[in-house]
Amino acid sequence: MMNDIKSVLFPEEQLRETVAALGKKISEDYRGRNLLLVSVLKGSVVFMADLMRTITVPCEIDFMAVSAYGNGVKNSGTVRIIKDLDRDIRGYDVLVVEDILDSGKTLNYLMDVLYARNPNSIRICTLFDKPERREVDICADYSGLKVPDEFIVGYGLDYAERYRNLPFVGVLKESVYTK
Ligand code: IMP
Ligand code: MG
Repeated sequence: MMNDIKSVLFPEEQLRETVAALGKKISEDYRGRNLLLVSVLKGSVVFMADLMRTITVPCEIDFMAVSAYGNGVKNSGTVRIIKDLDRDIRGYDVLVVEDILDSGKTLNYLMDVLYARNPNSIRICTLFDKPERREVDICADYSGLKVPDEFIVGYGLDYAERYRNLPFVGVLKESVYTK
């Protein structure tokens, strides 16, 4: 697995610090609110698990799964809900927890769907952001680290469902996806 990695972009310690800072900010902002963290499976699962443990105000969690990529490295533009939330989000202050904001198409679609369900409020928290690649007008309310226009894996992020278990974030060798 390590042989497929060109370079380490974010080591574990940096990820830990970034997540802690986001959790601190969220805890301040959501004091006295009815926070529901909505994790977008599967890429955000590692981030979600770490982030929720840095949040010091009461919150609930739920999961959604959407698919836009198939096994490729580009957004095909087609978003499908594979798993929906378990609950009605009316009355909740929803915070959508995403791994990475790339073209923005996935979150744009998801925000429309969730907004229509009339939550108290809705915001986005993304660990990684590739602002150069944005195709729709969307930005995160909480954003961790800016990423150059390269395909990254690890800390939940996959290529063809692999590498999610790497504890750091690395750049994949081009030879892996041109093979
Ligand atoms: P968007 O709709 O183009 O913003 O795509 C967001 C989704 O694409 C993320 O939730 C990831 O699953 C996936 N994605 C985008 N860039 C990368 C990357 O560099 N590595 C792994 N997955 C990525
Ligand atoms: Mg994802």
